[in-house]
Parts: sequence; C-alpha cells; structure tokens
Amino acid sequence: MGRYNSVAIALHWLVAIAIIGLLAVGKWMTSLPEADPLRFTATQWHKSFGILVLGLSVIRLLWKFGHRSPPLPDHMKAWERFAAASMHLLLYLLMFLLPLTGWLMVSASPLNLNTVLFGVVPLPHIPVEGYAISKENLAELFLDAHHLLSSVLLAMVIFHVLAALRHQFMLGDNILSRMVIGEQHRHSKDLNHGTIAGSLLAGFGLLALVTLTGQRDIPAQAGEGDVASAASLQVGFIATQLGEPLNGSFDQAQVDVKLDDADPSQSSLRATVETASASTADSQVTTTLPTADWFASEQFPTAEFVSRSIRALSAGKYQVVGEMRIKGVAAEVAFEMAVEDKVASGSFEIDRSVYGIGSADQDEYVGKMVVLSFTFPVQ
Ligand code: HEM
Ligand code: HEM
Repeated sequence: MGRYNSVAIALHWLVAIAIIGLLAVGKWMTSLPEADPLRFTATQWHKSFGILVLGLSVIRLLWKFGHRSPPLPDHMKAWERFAAASMHLLLYLLMFLLPLTGWLMVSASPLNLNTVLFGVVPLPHIPVEGYAISKENLAELFLDAHHLLSSVLLAMVIFHVLAALRHQFMLGDNILSRMVIGEQHRHSKDLNHGTIAGSLLAGFGLLALVTLTGQRDIPAQAGEGDVASAASLQVGFIATQLGEPLNGSFDQAQVDVKLDDADPSQSSLRATVETASASTADSQVTTTLPTADWFASEQFPTAEFVSRSIRALSAGKYQVVGEMRIKGVAAEVAFEMAVEDKVASGSFEIDRSVYGIGSADQDEYVGKMVVLSFTFPVQ
C-alpha cells in the first residue's frame, strides 16, 4: 500500500499539534477573567500560532494539489470512501475557517489593537468597515462563528483520531502507519522529501526560538538610572496595561530651555515630541500607538509643551506651569523640575482621556493616568 510523502506527513503533524494546542489554549484562556494579564498574553500567542496554522495549511493544500494521496485500502466500501473524503474535506475547510474567523474577529474588534505575530511580524487588519453591519456586531458575529467552529473542529478531530485508530488496530490496514515516518520510508528514494520535511521541522524550531528570544524589544527608558550622567535628551512615559506598568519613550524629541534665576520671567521651556516615534516594551502596543484611537500621528504628528511660568522653589528646583497640547487638545499642566549638574529632570501625571487618547472601550485594559518623565541637558 502507498504512503504519504514526508512533506505531507510533516505538515499533517505540525498542523495537528498546533491545532490541538490552540483548541486547548483557546478554551483555557477564555475561561480566565477578562482583566487577567495572563489571558491577554495567552491570546497574543494564540493569534500567532493560529495564523501560523493558516500559513501551514496554505502550503499543505498547495502541496496536496501537486501530489497524489496514496489510494485507500481495497476493502473499503464506497460509503466508507465517501465518508473519509468528506471528513478530510471538512477538516481542511476548518483549518482555514478557524484562523480566518479569528483574524476577522480581531480586525473588527472595537479595541482596535494591532496584532504583532510572535512579537515580530505585524498582522494587518482585514478591512471590515463600510458594510451595512456595524464593526461591533461583526466582531460579535465572528466571535460566535470562531467559538462554534472550534467545537465542530474538536468533534471532527476526535472522530478522525478514532477512525485512524479503528483502521490501524481493528481493521489492520495500516492507515496510521502511512501517516508516520517509518523504516520503509527511510529506505525509500525520496531523500529530497525527507530533507524538506527536516527543514520544515527545523524552521518550526527556529521560529519558537525567535519567539522566545526576540519577543520583546526593550526601548530606552527615560527617567531611569543615574540622572546626573544622563546627559542626552530623553522623554519617557509609563502607562498601565491590565494593571501592569508599561514603559515607553519618544525616540524623537526636542527641547528648548532657558533658565534665568535672576529674572524668572525670562525663563522658558518648550518641548516637542514626534508622536509616531513612541515605542514601548510591547511591540503590539508600539504599532497601535500611532493609530487614530491613540496619537492619530498622521493628523497630529507632534505633541508639545510650552511653559507659561517657571518659578524657582529652592536651589536647583523649579515649579513649571504651562500648556500641553496633544491631538489638538490643549490643557494646563504643572510639575516640578530638578536641575543638577546641568541636567534637568522631572516627572508628572496626565489623564490621557483629557486629550482623547484611547477610546472608552480600551479603558478596561489601559489605565487613564500616564506618567511622563524627562531628562535633558541645560546650558
Ligand atoms: C486553527 C486555528 C485556531 C483554533 C483551533 C482556535 C481555537 C479557539 C478556541 C477553542 C477559542 C475559545 C473559544 C471559546 O470557547 O469561546 C478561541 C478563542 C479566540 N481565538 Fe482562536 N483559534 C484559532 C485561530 C485563531 C486566530 C488566527 C486568531 C486571530 C488572529 C484567533 C483569535 C482568537 C481570539 C481573540 C479568541 C478569544 C475570544 C474571546 O476573548 O472571547 N484564533 N480560539
Ligand atoms: C487537529 C488535528 C488533525 C487534523 C486537522 C487532521 C487532518 C487531516 C487531514 C485533512 C487528512 C487528510 C490528508 C490528505 O489525504 O490530504 C488527515 C489524514 C490522516 N490523519 Fe489527521 N488530522 C489531525 C490529527 C490526527 C491525529 C491526532 C491522528 C492520529 C491518530 C491522525 C491520523 C491521520 C491519518 C492516519 C491520516 C491518513 C488517512 C489516510 O491514509 O487516508 N490525524 N488528517
């Protein structure tokens, strides 16, 4: 009896392991409380592996078109052949429909979060706007479909496994063996297939490695470390995501400062940051920040602080009052600034909702108060 080739076998088992993991993780993560940071992290991994399944399924289908599957055993009746073919067709269909409904669900989500696969590759949103049905209702619809289809897939997989075991052990026709790389196969001539299958496995391992090591790109954190030695300009922020602090910084910033202790009315401070240069330890958040819900960087490329008064409190300490303009909204802020060894530093809190940063849907996940911090050299 014929066998599946190594590529078909490798793809079958990679996808099988990933799908079983996704079904288990999917059920588990959705049982956690919404505000649990673990649920958030698990969902990121779930999305990454889900899209990986989609990619592997595309390769698998293309491979299948180019290669004949081994013929079924002669003893199988017409209805059994039909049942097997229908089951496999349905499994193939679900291998596409689950990732697609998941992808559509996150594309339509009112949270508008960008997805960064394995913390490295940004996943574009499927365009879901402009239809008669609202985004919120679409998100709900795809969530229901994803949920329903995952239960259908689970049932199909159980049935599929039972059928494979029945063939192998009750009917004795070695159906399972032909989906496993065995002795007979290693002696066969298609070394090429073996090499490709090996490469696929190695690629999978490599991807896991990249995920573990490259997941987080830690940006420079302003307001950290020895302030006196930090001679360069740094503007940082600390937001809270699901109750956990998330550090970020603006990589492009400019400060104009003049301090005149003899005549405070001559003192001034003007700071500008490029909103699109904001980066955080979480690449998903970083790619989301310039979007319309957050900084709307295309429309508002800069955010600015301009002082109105700077008053000396004591030696090296100043009270700064001025106007902060973000996303076209201006509001008064006041903070203390320390100057030591020709380096100014300080930090203060702002309420992001005052400036229309983040939508109400996101308030559950992201704290309203954000700490801004700065250090810069003073002549
Ligand atoms: C073969 C691939 C996939 C399988 C088998 C799978 C399976 C599941 C399962 C079993 C759940 C729990 C459903 C429930 O009981 O409510 C779930 C939830 C979820 N899946 Fe997937 N999934 C897959 C791919 C994807 C992809 C590609 C994405 C997005 C890009 C995604 C996004 C989600 C999200 C966001 C949830 C959570 C929904 C919520 O919080 O209620 N899934 N998935
Ligand atoms: C999520 C899990 C799984 C999915 C989505 C899946 C899907 C599929 C599909 C679509 C095929 C048809 C291959 C083709 O002819 O193109 C297939 C074949 C096969 N699967 Fe799975 N499978 C899964 C898990 C398993 C498991 C756990 C077993 C082991 C018991 C298994 C055993 C087999 C066998 C033996 C065949 C070959 C059938 C034949 O020779 O015609 N599968 N699988």
